[in-house]
Amino acid sequence: MRYGHFDDEAKEYVITRPDTPTSWSNYLGSTGYGAIITNNAGGYGFYRSGARGRFLRLRFNSVPMDQPGRYFYLRDQESADYWSASWQPVGKPLDAYESVCRHGTAYTIIASRYAGIATEATYFVPLGQAFEYWRLRVTNESDRPREISVFSFCEFTNQWDTYQDRVNLQYSLFIVRGSLTEDGLLRIAIQDHLTRETEEGIIQDIAHHAWLALVGADLIGYDTSREAFLGPYRSYHNPLVVEQGRCTGSDAYGDNACGSLQSDLTLQPGESRELLVMLGIGDARSVGVRTVDEFGSLDRATEELRKLKASWHAKLGSLVVETPDEALNHTINVWGPYNCLITYAWSRAASLVYNGERDGLGFRDSVQDALGVVSAVPDDARARLELMLTAQVSNGGAMPIVKPFEHRPGHETPPDPEAYRSDDCLWFFNAIPAYVNETGDVGFYEKVLPYADRGEATVLGHLRRALEFNLERTGTHGLPCGLSADWNDCLRLGYHGESLFVAFQLRLGLTVYAQIAEQLEQPDEAAWALDHRQSLDVSIQACAWDGDRFIWAIGEDGTVYGTHESDEGKIYLNTQVWSVISGAASSEQAARCMETVNEHLATPYGLMLSAPPFVKTSIDVMRAVVFNPGVKENAGIFNHTQGWGVIAECCLGHGDRAYDYYRASMPAAYNDRAEIRQIEPYVQGQTTYSTFSPRPGNTRTPWLTGAAAWAYFSATQYILGLRPEIDGLRIDPCIPSDWDDFTATRRFRGKTIEIEVRNPDHVCRGVKTFTLNGEPLPDNLVPAKKLQDHNRVEVVLG
Ligand code: NOJ
Repeated sequence: MRYGHFDDEAKEYVITRPDTPTSWSNYLGSTGYGAIITNNAGGYGFYRSGARGRFLRLRFNSVPMDQPGRYFYLRDQESADYWSASWQPVGKPLDAYESVCRHGTAYTIIASRYAGIATEATYFVPLGQAFEYWRLRVTNESDRPREISVFSFCEFTNQWDTYQDRVNLQYSLFIVRGSLTEDGLLRIAIQDHLTRETEEGIIQDIAHHAWLALVGADLIGYDTSREAFLGPYRSYHNPLVVEQGRCTGSDAYGDNACGSLQSDLTLQPGESRELLVMLGIGDARSVGVRTVDEFGSLDRATEELRKLKASWHAKLGSLVVETPDEALNHTINVWGPYNCLITYAWSRAASLVYNGERDGLGFRDSVQDALGVVSAVPDDARARLELMLTAQVSNGGAMPIVKPFEHRPGHETPPDPEAYRSDDCLWFFNAIPAYVNETGDVGFYEKVLPYADRGEATVLGHLRRALEFNLERTGTHGLPCGLSADWNDCLRLGYHGESLFVAFQLRLGLTVYAQIAEQLEQPDEAAWALDHRQSLDVSIQACAWDGDRFIWAIGEDGTVYGTHESDEGKIYLNTQVWSVISGAASSEQAARCMETVNEHLATPYGLMLSAPPFVKTSIDVMRAVVFNPGVKENAGIFNHTQGWGVIAECCLGHGDRAYDYYRASMPAAYNDRAEIRQIEPYVQGQTTYSTFSPRPGNTRTPWLTGAAAWAYFSATQYILGLRPEIDGLRIDPCIPSDWDDFTATRRFRGKTIEIEVRNPDHVCRGVKTFTLNGEPLPDNLVPAKKLQDHNRVEVVLG
């Protein structure tokens, strides 16, 4: 079933049926002022932190779905009929009500048509600002004059700390006040007596403020008391004020605050009127008034939306492709990189599922998220990597969470020894070279940065400490200890239990370190890494191969996990694919273990993380047993890992199989079957229910997931094979054999490269001829030195 379509020209996803199986959401704003909005205008807003800066309320996991939000109610004053500018919350019958929602790059437009009145509501946060616009156009499409009242509505939290707002009601119900200022703005103040003006005017001690303004229409009335607006025993679908057609002028004084501004429009047949609601944080009397003075006009809002789109579209322009698969084109040209940028910005802190339990940047997640944005926003990626490097502890391990606005390098308290995770800093070996290879900024390796707790080192020094951290913590088989967890949050091997996944990551890290040391002309360092790699290879081969698969791990007590003999979790995806990615597997082992993956873990919806599910295994060893079989780490399809499966198959030259795996978990491939995934067909979800569950294909936890970066990285760098290296751009596609060709326009180090790849022999991989600007080249590297401003590369596979 289909609920919408992709509009790549506008870089929008267009939802034409509002009754989507789950709320289909979008992000507005920035890490300073962020907002989430759904196709039915549900959602919330937050300042700097989804958990501790939540100023607009949403009831999570509630019924009806995704309420409240940013609403416009409309009332026909003649007939007394009322509806909303988004299908919900009033929810008129869909045979009489039309809704089209366009989710774009950090803006959302929701159009409606009902009873001869058309509306279009546009929501966005202007670049770099701490307020949002809701722009409404109302058009009378009927043949008689109409009297239409418009009421805005949003609901504020009583405390910006989302947990306190929900649990500490004996306190939080007595601290909010709402009023209309002399300038005609709504002022919502929490703990108003504690307000201290600061230059920023945003956060003053523990007092918090928000404001609302109406521009472009007369203010007829207002309400700031939610109870007065809704009325007792009513809900968002039938507010008393809207039903009666007039705001009451209520001032919230404790209980709960809302923001409703009423305007009355008289519309002749065919006439349109536009108005703006502006909602921001800070004191209405200072910040609010200043902001309305500067930004409060329809023309200014038009200009701000133009700037916002231009900025986002430029970020998405680093790679534009045309392949035989339209779903892949939507993914590479718009939604994949947009998803990566949103995940990079918000980590796992704010979505319709992440409700504040995870605050700040999870270390391993954020380092991996950087991978997805190095080509779109290289400077931001570098800044993020620097932040993460300063969250590395001087012993080489990592702070588990980094709070960007509070982080104090050199002064952080390191985690307790047993709290370190074994994989955290090893992700640097993927992300940092990706940044350097993209930009050619080799000097980055020599930049000196502090550790989180004390001391400092060059970036290369940080990388060495990362390797030493694992080399110094090995178990009885010479493999790295799993510590409190490896990538898999659920793994409990005992502190000295050994993780084969980390062993493979370490191997890759040693290889990458040796390459970097060579680039920096430090042969001793390269030799040091290669010596360790050799010993590690011996340890791996001595204990980790089980005939047709690599084992998963070895517990502190010597138990071997992930073998033929295991009853549960006999085969684990990550150790197979990482044996290939890291180069640890011999060619026979690589081919064999990837066959085993195909036989035991492949489903039509993606690769399962392991099989069979855990039911009897002790929770002390495998916490995945807490999840229903076939979900998340318990033999679910963990989408974060799908890109690794794709990369491993590409490493083996298996373009057909790599693409089958990619497509199985590509959101856009489900656009016509959206009922299977249920979540947005334009973004990744963390987990897909596997065939061990009764609902295979259902996908959960949209947007914020490591799947975003790895899906984009694996498709662009391995399937399309556009792989930055220090000396240039390698072009080494590994595509489905039935593709005739594809084209790509790649922005690379300030230059543009137009690439045409033809596949007359229908191979998966292998470059037969290669020309740059008409000149045949000896291999498939576009040398950075030879690049002009505009370049043309022709590649023939065969
Ligand atoms: C989700 C977490 O955010 C991530 O850090 C972890 O690697 C995966 N779960 C797997 O457990």
